Amino acid sequence: PLGAVPKVIPENVVAPELSHLKQQIQLLCSTNLPGLDITSKYYLQANGKLFRPMVVFLMSRATAVAPKKEGWKTVSSALERTFNNPVAPPEILKDFNPDFSTLSSKLMPVDIIGGPDQIIQVLGSQRRLAEIVELIHTATLLHDDVIDHAETRRGKPSANVFSGNKLAILAGDYMLGRASVYLARLRDPEVIELLAEVIAELVKGELFQLQNTSADYQSPEYLEQSLNYYLEKTYLKSASLISKSCRAAAVLGGSTNEVREAAYIYGKNLGLAFQLVDDILDYTSSSEEIGKPASADLELGLATAPVFYAWEEYPELGPMIARQFSEPGDAIKARALVHQSQGIQKTRVLAQSFCDTARQAISTFPDSEARAGLEEVLNKVLTRKR
Ligand code: FPP
Ligand code: MG
Ligand code: MG
Repeated sequence: PLGAVPKVIPENVVAPELSHLKQQIQLLCSTNLPGLDITSKYYLQANGKLFRPMVVFLMSRATAVAPKKEGWKTVSSALERTFNNPVAPPEILKDFNPDFSTLSSKLMPVDIIGGPDQIIQVLGSQRRLAEIVELIHTATLLHDDVIDHAETRRGKPSANVFSGNKLAILAGDYMLGRASVYLARLRDPEVIELLAEVIAELVKGELFQLQNTSADYQSPEYLEQSLNYYLEKTYLKSASLISKSCRAAAVLGGSTNEVREAAYIYGKNLGLAFQLVDDILDYTSSSEEIGKPASADLELGLATAPVFYAWEEYPELGPMIARQFSEPGDAIKARALVHQSQGIQKTRVLAQSFCDTARQAISTFPDSEARAGLEEVLNKVLTRKR
């Protein structure tokens, strides 16, 4: 129609960056122990969304044109940070890491993108950050599927089914180790601290989820308390990684404190909205659509936003939430009540409000294709089907 603005497709904006990603990450966690090698790469080779790396790339490009700290020089700073610099690792580390072994010809060095005569958009260090973020995310999936007894992921048998629990756990740990090495090699203390904190927060989020809240589920007046606990859990479990990696992208790009903070706020609200929609999809999608078990949360005893809102209308949900849907028929009954209630609609409204806050946070960034991409990510999060 007349006047229609061509829509930005976020994954197309950063397609060059995304194209090498999977291969690069597989190099980062390659090992000569076959079981470990296969299990570490198992989810990386599947049909993942690469959502987090995409956001890191978009944020890197959107902040590339935003204000920089005084004295920041893009090219030299990127080069100074490579592993070829005076603070390169000692000899003993070189043997075991693909950067320095025969794989090095295939692994792109940290500073390969850009050069003195090119306009740098995504720095090598920011690209490595995106790889580290996906490594950490994949490690949590390996562990999560053991904890959740999941049998499918990304449309395939889950890694715990394919390789067994022991290898799935060890491969997750191994990937965290590899991610830490590459994180340290970025030689940026704030970025190391941000991502190390994320790993700790992911563990806390998982434990928050396993534990019951202190709320008294007999009384719906505790709804607010329950929702706050749920949102805190959701930050730890999902928004921490996205928000802190958005900030890390801005840090690596030499952004001012204001820009770093805006990047963080964007990521935090995007992450919260993302997980709220995930919790909606658990009620509304089929296992085929999402490539992992649907209707899983209630079966696992987990109360998420849709059931908390439904509890407002149907007080009988309180005791079921309290006993973690453990009595026969609880999960089926609760599911039906959620669908009869405004729970899903109200969760969507909350997700929308997080998206609005995220959009506001980056509104001060200069107009760019990447910023439009970050805005479109917010639209797509609300309408995604998997
Ligand atoms: C997926 O949630 C799980 C997470 C986002 C975090 C899991 C964190 C851990 C298992 C602990 C920390 C582990 C490491 C390696 C730091 P979900 O089960 O709701 O989603 P799903 O439907 O995709 O399984
Ligand atoms: Mg799970
Ligand atoms: Mg889980």
